Amino acid sequence: MSHDDFPTENPAVVTCGLPYANGDLHIGHLRTYISGDAYARALEKLGQETAFVSGSDMHGTPVAVNAEKRGVSPEEFALEHHEKYAETFPRFNVEFDNYGHTHDETNTELTQSFVRSWVENDHVFEKEIQVAWDPEADTPLPDRYVEGTCPYCGAKARGDECDEGCQRHLEPGEIEDPVSTITGNPAEYRTREHKFLRLSDFQEYLKGFIDRLEGTSNARNQPKEWIEGELQDLCITRDMDWGIDYPGEGKEDLVLYVWVDAPIEYVSSTKQYTERVGADEYDWEEVWKAGAPEADAPEAADDETWDDADTGDIVHVIGRDIIQHHTVFWPSMLRGAGYNEPRAVMASGFVNLDGQAFSTSRNRAVWADDYLDEGLDPDLVRYYLTTTGGFQQDVDFSWEKFQERVNGELVGTLGNFAYRSLLFAARNYDGAPDADTSEEVASRIEDAVADFEEAVNDYSLKQAGDAAVALAGFGNEYIQRNEPWNLTGDDGESRSDSESPSGDEPRGPTRAEQVIYDCVQIAKAVAVLSAPILPGKAQTLWEQLGEEGSVHDANLDACLQSPPGEFGEPDELFDKIEDERVEQLNEKLQERIEAATDDSGEDATEESEDDTMSEDIQPVKEDRISFEDFQDLDIRVGEIEVAEPIEGADDLARLEVDIGTETRQIVAGIKQLHDLDALPGTKVVVVANLEQAELFGVESNGMVLAAGEEADLLTTHEDSVPGTKVR
Ligand code: 2FM
Ligand code: ZN
Repeated sequence: MSHDDFPTENPAVVTCGLPYANGDLHIGHLRTYISGDAYARALEKLGQETAFVSGSDMHGTPVAVNAEKRGVSPEEFALEHHEKYAETFPRFNVEFDNYGHTHDETNTELTQSFVRSWVENDHVFEKEIQVAWDPEADTPLPDRYVEGTCPYCGAKARGDECDEGCQRHLEPGEIEDPVSTITGNPAEYRTREHKFLRLSDFQEYLKGFIDRLEGTSNARNQPKEWIEGELQDLCITRDMDWGIDYPGEGKEDLVLYVWVDAPIEYVSSTKQYTERVGADEYDWEEVWKAGAPEADAPEAADDETWDDADTGDIVHVIGRDIIQHHTVFWPSMLRGAGYNEPRAVMASGFVNLDGQAFSTSRNRAVWADDYLDEGLDPDLVRYYLTTTGGFQQDVDFSWEKFQERVNGELVGTLGNFAYRSLLFAARNYDGAPDADTSEEVASRIEDAVADFEEAVNDYSLKQAGDAAVALAGFGNEYIQRNEPWNLTGDDGESRSDSESPSGDEPRGPTRAEQVIYDCVQIAKAVAVLSAPILPGKAQTLWEQLGEEGSVHDANLDACLQSPPGEFGEPDELFDKIEDERVEQLNEKLQERIEAATDDSGEDATEESEDDTMSEDIQPVKEDRISFEDFQDLDIRVGEIEVAEPIEGADDLARLEVDIGTETRQIVAGIKQLHDLDALPGTKVVVVANLEQAELFGVESNGMVLAAGEEADLLTTHEDSVPGTKVR
């Protein structure tokens, strides 16, 4: 089944990964919420019926551990954070249709009903396992109560996730060299009985699912290896008090694993939305249940069984660290209970601060509250986070880079265009002159709308934001080229239509009127197209244009509908960020980091949580190489014949590339960035005389050239055959 393009006839739901209700939000956390909000708004612009939901993740050890540190109950602790989050999101124009939490009645009931369905359909079994135990505290150590080494990649791992290494989920008992985080003692293992969801029941189903899945390429490619290998069953219970009770006799001491009730909150939250607005307006069951195949035979749900016309369009926006949960566990959970599967998973990269990971413990972060307290407009950071690089790329934040994008694109392009056009229109014509949009401008707006629609269907917020800013850039060029300020004298009075000498026929607009009308039309289209990413500023522009109501109720058709005839002088949409402001912001950040370092006695520069440098455009090296040196490189056109993942390696793929004289085996770091199945037949550019290397035990004979962090493969424009030299 391939999905119909958006807008579809079905209701859609966009969800954001649930934040653990256990700490303050910084702008790194905000990336997925802002993106989810922008994507839901963008779908609505296309006319897609959409709900946007999420909630706080109240259970699990991340909350229990922090509540204990604070000396309060997990419930009190989590509720306090939940309320704070619910209040913070709208301040960034993140407007959920429903923002619930996992500990409420709706989610408790729904979670238990999911588990009962799995039991009825025979997907749950009981098994004795070894769980980590603290001998001194005499207590079990679920998940984050234990730290150790990841058995898959050797990185330091905590509890149920290898968050600093391969990002894999870890089952109880898997972590090596376990240490209790309660006492610091080496943990022992003790035997306990737990419940498991038999993931192998869904193996065949998942193979089909992953082929149908849309979204970012990391979410579609990374799980293939897991799904094709042996699927480990998922332990769905924990030895804890805090959580949702396992709904079965004799298991009163167990609660459900947090990753059971957390994603079910996506459904609960949608249900609560329906309960509020009524099923006539939005029916949660149409999205999550209608059209789903029967749950009792999961393997029977093949491509033909899923009829796109009947099922809701579910889009999950998440961080890339929880791809496995959303592409392996969650679809199995849904399938096992007779619910619809996700249509798309959009998995974002992380946000770094000046090239290093945010560190909450070192106060090395731009906190959501601090950002707003500085008087900075939320739309600026929305723009930065959604349009700096592709969605799956890491974004590096620094106040300098932020200043550059704000001053360049928002102040210099979008704001400048809107202000000069509307000011000129208001001063000379009290609003939009009497005219119709010229063919040139109408066609440019149509192109921008088409780019926007394509962006939404490609799950690319950057492309959607670019469509709006590029249109404003065109507006600037158009106004500059036509110089309406030089057309307001005699020249300006000349008609763009042929004049009617008798004066009987209606007069056409003057050239100046035509140009300014066009600019007002462009400004209106810019307001509509930028609204998902810049909701507040787009509304301001909408009102400056004299439009009534909300820009968020206008769909793409409004881009070419006539603007109102009258409006007054506008204010500037954006303020330039001066260098002194950036200096102050940097000083404040530095002071906070130093204060945190003094408090903890640590050296903040010693270590970072993640020292990934984000990709910048580097200056060209001063040292030049000779032409002879260049000629030493044997660069050729190649054609990929085979592309397959290298098992166990996170990023590597094995390629067989026809380079004209022979077929070469080449290892390339593109596994998660490309759909390997789609690569055979692709022309690439290969360095053929690079020395042989061995990567992950696989011999590599050459290098396939690719640009940037997304490994954008270099290819040919025309039909150069494999073996052709690149000069
Ligand atoms: O990793 C996390 O922060 C989890 N709280 C995300 C849950 S997302 C969803 F599936 F519930
Ligand atoms: Zn690992």
